[in-house]
Amino acid sequence: MHSKIAQIGLVSSHPEVYDPCDDSFALVDALLADRTKLLNHRPSICMEIGCGSGYVIASLALLLGKESSGSSYIATDINPHAVRVTLETLEAHGCHAEVVNTDIASGLEKRLNRCVDVMVVNPPYVPTPEEEVGCHGIASAWAGGENGRRVIDRILPVADKLLSDKGWLYLLTLTANNPVELCLHMRKKGYASRIILQRSTDEESLHIIKFWRDLDTLLEANECSIVEKTENGLPTESPNFTPFSFWKYGNHNN
Ligand SMILES: C[S@@+](CC[C@H](N)C(=O)[O-])C[C@H]1O[C@@H](n2cnc3c(N)ncnc32)[C@H](O)[C@@H]1O
Repeated sequence: MHSKIAQIGLVSSHPEVYDPCDDSFALVDALLADRTKLLNHRPSICMEIGCGSGYVIASLALLLGKESSGSSYIATDINPHAVRVTLETLEAHGCHAEVVNTDIASGLEKRLNRCVDVMVVNPPYVPTPEEEVGCHGIASAWAGGENGRRVIDRILPVADKLLSDKGWLYLLTLTANNPVELCLHMRKKGYASRIILQRSTDEESLHIIKFWRDLDTLLEANECSIVEKTENGLPTESPNFTPFSFWKYGNHNN
């Protein structure tokens, strides 16, 4: 197998498992474009949340290849059929990953606490009625509730717990998910961010955001949250917050 990414023809399928689509291809293209950085990053643990067919985690394993032989891979999906399909996809490509049927990373937090060097996520991001989120069947692959953010907003705190000090998160979002707000939210937790790929399809405008822990951003976030006492004694956040300044912060080598 010489390809640097998984071959669709070798990707297993199931009627209730999300087939690789424009969003999956955008995420893998972003990883391919970052391949040299990923190799230099020398990740010990790479993780995918919501692996579906296994196309993305298999592609990540292939693009890192033998040059990153110390890397191990773990993938999760809430859909048990996706776990089976991912295992078949990995096997067809000669790759290995631990694949876990769980909600986000439930049950893995202790073991993976601050251990994940690369995390990739193509979440359910489509704005839908709230009641469709987490339903059974294929709709749970895309149903994201209000602004498509229901699952994304649950994944980000988990990512913060699991990412190592040098951890990188690659997150796929849609314009409707408000990527700028997501970056600002993560900035308050000390993450710098950059949109590393933007792609418009007939139906949607996709962004791949890369997040990484950044000391300058963390210091600035701490300054911003210095609690001031108001006249009535209630704490308030400092107003010294410059929207969009995250674009110029952080190590741009990332
Ligand atoms: C848009 S699909 C992406 C699939 C695959 N990663 C890809 O890019 O082709 C989202 C995936 O997340 C899974 N998922 C949805 N909610 C989840 C949750 N709470 N925990 C884990 N996986 C979840 C779905 O079952 C689905 O496989």
